[in-house]
Order: sequence, then structure tokens, then C-alpha cells
Amino acid sequence: MALDLTKYVSSIPDYPEKGIIFRDISPLMANGEAYKQATAQIVQFARDKGVQMIVGPEARGFIVGCPVAYELGVGFAPARKKGKLPRETVKATYTLEYGTAELYMHKDAVKPGQHVLVTDDLLATGGTIGATIDLVEQLGGIVVGCAFIIELDALKGHEKIKDYDVLTLMHY
Ligand code: PRP
Ligand code: HPA
Repeated sequence: MALDLTKYVSSIPDYPEKGIIFRDISPLMANGEAYKQATAQIVQFARDKGVQMIVGPEARGFIVGCPVAYELGVGFAPARKKGKLPRETVKATYTLEYGTAELYMHKDAVKPGQHVLVTDDLLATGGTIGATIDLVEQLGGIVVGCAFIIELDALKGHEKIKDYDVLTLMHY
């Protein structure tokens, strides 16, 4: 029987700042069955789209994207924070719920025309996923979908990706 994944998300008030309720997926990742179920739902979504490559932003986009890539037998490419990638990169700048940042990808991480699924644990303002999509598209990749474990509806990140096909497992 399917698990209720909401039971594996913990909500922490006033973290990392007063007024923010932090939704923590580490209990979901710590439970083999829950992690597998979340992964299987994203794999199904990706299979239907002929995904050839998964791209996820540092750090929690890796946790979501890598098992999906493994299951599909496709590659995974990370979008990383500043100063982490050793070869030539492309860059995208974005605004976070709390701060600003840049993400980078290696120039050869995605091939032109490749069908890409972007993954992350959580969609808040959409800055991170917007930058990740921007990087994939700078490289000539085609973003065929975005997948999240959680979406924080009040922060309206969905509006930034309304032109893309999105799978979200839980809404808060
Ligand atoms: C968190 C989260 C998403 C992003 C969502 O990552 O994992 O990637 O913020 O926020 P947004 O939609 O407003 O951009 P964070 O930047 O805290 O990095 P981490 O995964 O390395 O902790
Ligand atoms: N939880 C986890 N990561 C986040 C959140 C949150 O509520 N907001 C922005 N990144």
C-alpha cells in the first residue's frame, strides 16, 4: 500500500529565520520505503517524457535526482554553487527566499537537444529552479519537466515555471 509521504516531512517553525516554517525532507530520505516511493513517482513522470538526462541543483536536488537517474539508466549533471566546478562553466544568478546566489554547470554537462528533467526537493520562490532551467537552456538542453518533493504554494514559485510540465508530490 502507498505510504502517506506527508508523515515523513517535519515542519520546523522559525528556521532559519523568524516567520519561516522550514519543511524538512530528511525523515523521508531516512526511510527506505518512503524514499523509494517518492523516487518511483518521479521515475514514472520522467519515463513518460523520454528523459535523457537529469539535472539537479546543489545540494538537495542531487538527493532527489540521482536515484531517478539511476533507475532510468540516464546520466545526472549537477548545478553547483560558486567555486565548485573545475572546468569551463556557464552561470546563472538568482534570488533565494533568504539571500542571493549563483549556480554553475560545466559547459559540456548537457548536450544540445537533450531532453532534461530538473529535480529539487522543494520549490519555494522558484529562484533556484529558474536558474537551473536557465543553465540547461544556455547549454541547448530541452527542459521536458520539473519534479519536486514539496512545493510551498504561498511563495508562488510555480508562476516562474508555468511554461513547464511540473510534478510535485506534496503541497504546503
Ligand atoms: C533550498 C531548496 C531548494 C531552494 C528552494 O536550497 O533545497 O533548492 O532552496 O528555494 P527557492 O525556490 O526560493 O529558490 P538551498 O539554497 O537552501 O541549498 P541547499 O540544498 O544546499 O541546502
Ligand atoms: N524547507 C526547505 N528548504 C527550503 C525551504 C523550506 O521551507 N525554503 C527554502 N528552502
